Amino acid sequence: MLVLRRCAYLAVAGFAAALAGCSQAPPTPTAAPAVPTTAPPAATPTAPAAAKPAASPSPPATTASPVAAPSPAVKPAASPAASPAVVAAASPTPLSLAQLSAIQPGLGTVMIEYARRMGHLWFAEQASNWDLAQYQLGEMIEIQEVGETTRPARAPALKSFESSFLDPLDEAIKAKDKGKFESAYNSAIQGCNSCHGSQTSADFQQGFTFIKVQVPTKGIWDIYKWDGR
Ligand code: HEC
Repeated sequence: MLVLRRCAYLAVAGFAAALAGCSQAPPTPTAAPAVPTTAPPAATPTAPAAAKPAASPSPPATTASPVAAPSPAVKPAASPAASPAVVAAASPTPLSLAQLSAIQPGLGTVMIEYARRMGHLWFAEQASNWDLAQYQLGEMIEIQEVGETTRPARAPALKSFESSFLDPLDEAIKAKDKGKFESAYNSAIQGCNSCHGSQTSADFQQGFTFIKVQVPTKGIWDIYKWDGR
């Protein structure tokens, strides 16, 4: 069992940090927190346009002293920014926690990745690339944990799917046992579909039986069984 939840949190935290730092397009990472003069491009088209090209190209990744580079870069950007227009723009309303959580991926988004990696898993095993198979399975569990965090009501079903169907796949991969893997994979596909049938939502009170997956044949997206039967 892989416990990779930490990564999910880091991803969320990183995302929040990225949001905080992304109100200006290409700031140097270290400069952004120090200089909250992050005028949105639309608000002050003239000043940043003049300042940015001069400021941003200066810290190329190849600079020998990456710590020193941002400070000269920041100053030119900071002084033209001292106008009232920029000050007004410099306090963008921070997103609330509720807003931040509302924009995290829901299960539909998680499932697109889940299914894609499930497809990768099959073709990795078909090609006897066990390391790739192991990697894909680990990534499935990571994205599943994002789903468990953002949609806690589905977490028990996801966890039970993991122990019933992904753990046997993990064992088969570790044993490099193709027979065992393929039978575990077939069972897992059935497990995917039975969860779809059992989960409901306000919009789909009859369940998600129409989302059917199958063992892919030619490519990863054949994992969708389009007729839903
Ligand atoms: C917790 C039960 C559960 C399990 C286990 C599960 N799913 Fe899902 N899946 C869902 C739900 C619920 C949805 C609908 C998402 C939504 O609410 O928006 C979904 C949606 C999907 C979609 C549609 C995504 C899209 O928008 O195109 C695919 C594909 C999918 N699942 C694949 C899989 C695969 C492959 C597996 C097994 C490896 C799997 N699912 C396991 C609950 C589950």
